[in-house]
Amino acid sequence: MRAMLLAVAWMSVGTAWAGGDAVRGQQAYEARCGACHSVDSDRVGPRHAGVVGRRAGSVPGFAYSDALRRSGLVWDARLLDRWLSDPEKLVPGQRMGYRVDDPQIRADIIAYLATLKARKP
Ligand code: HEC
Repeated sequence: MRAMLLAVAWMSVGTAWAGGDAVRGQQAYEARCGACHSVDSDRVGPRHAGVVGRRAGSVPGFAYSDALRRSGLVWDARLLDRWLSDPEKLVPGQRMGYRVDDPQIRADIIAYLATLKARKP
């Protein structure tokens, strides 16, 4: 029973992401993530240009936690959804003290992140 509930929860994650709206996501990003992150420069958190498809903990010069740097993850929509729901559960020992409980807002933010291409300096 528990396994089945988990499977259903898992599938709804994929669906929620597919329904993400990048325009709403940009507003949510600026409101919720902007205090610590920006697209092109490192702040409290690392820059986000090109984050989808990027290895976790790999922006040169940013002082990541060892936990994230060594996680071996490569960010895709599903992992980002898990990270934003509960970073500490995905990567114990990480240092981002923020989570987004609403699945639709996560989906919107991830749709926006997917539009951010890495820019060469
Ligand atoms: C309170 C500050 C803070 C807020 C708010 C915050 N973050 Fe972070 N974020 C961090 C820190 C610090 C790290 C680095 C964590 C580590 O090294 O363990 C991080 C790391 C990340 C990473 C991993 C990037 C990489 O290069 O591997 C992603 C993705 C991310 N944040 C997305 C978001 C999103 C999306 C939001 C808004 C919903 C957000 N963060 C809000 C501080 C924050």
